[in-house]
Amino acid sequence: MAPGWFDDLVAPGRELRRSANGVLSALSSHEGGSRYDGRAALYDRLVSNSFYNRRVWRSSVASYATFAAAAVTSGDGPMLDVGCGTAVFTADAYRVAERPLVLVDRSLGMLTRAAQRLELRSQDSSRIVLVQADLLDLPFRPASFSTVASFGVLHLFADVVTVLDRLQAQLAPGGSLYATSLVSQTAISKGVLMLLHLGGEAASPRRASELEVLAGSALGDEFSMRTEGSMAFLSYHPRAR
Ligand SMILES: C[S@@+](CC[C@H](N)C(=O)[O-])C[C@H]1O[C@@H](n2cnc3c(N)ncnc32)[C@H](O)[C@@H]1O
Repeated sequence: MAPGWFDDLVAPGRELRRSANGVLSALSSHEGGSRYDGRAALYDRLVSNSFYNRRVWRSSVASYATFAAAAVTSGDGPMLDVGCGTAVFTADAYRVAERPLVLVDRSLGMLTRAAQRLELRSQDSSRIVLVQADLLDLPFRPASFSTVASFGVLHLFADVVTVLDRLQAQLAPGGSLYATSLVSQTAISKGVLMLLHLGGEAASPRRASELEVLAGSALGDEFSMRTEGSMAFLSYHPRAR
């Protein structure tokens, strides 16, 4: 059974069904799998490799983990991580988090690996709930989370403004949004992003300056963005509305 705090977050009329490995699913049983399903192990090996991050993205695994830890400690109400993947960079922060966590991904394969990494044996975990859902159709009440995070996801989407709108809609008054995105700051990162784009894996490569303009049109002027190599780190702390 999902914990009571989680039930309060679910939007009226949305039903979540039990899926494999303790994951709750907002997708109907006939909706297809995700392209990430069969590659969770490979994903982990690649993206946690320091040499790969240094060489291709000129950024570091430690920076991703530090940013995730900052998101976790930014509040104490429920936190939502959209596109959580296998929790490869976030698990350390999530294990010690003293707040309810909802980890969402479209891929059951990625969620299953996240559950193993976090050692969640069943959905009766009192603090962390894993949900299979599409980020464009999240099954939660608007304005329910005091922190919303989405790491390494924005570059997958051509319409990043809509994605940021959907994430922002989940933010409770006074809450904070944290997101990262690959950007094409160097020839090598541009080349890799272009290959991913041509393979249908990512949006057309964007430079940090382009992402900043798009983020501004979704979030206004209350966000900040910095880059480390070809990884952009966005945070948004709107004044209470
Ligand atoms: C590049 S991985 C990033 C995973 C993780 N956040 C990290 O930093 O390692 C992108 C993740 O977004 C998920 N994803 C892609 N499209 C999605 C969608 N429409 N709704 C929810 N998750 C999605 C993928 O399944 C994948 O796990």
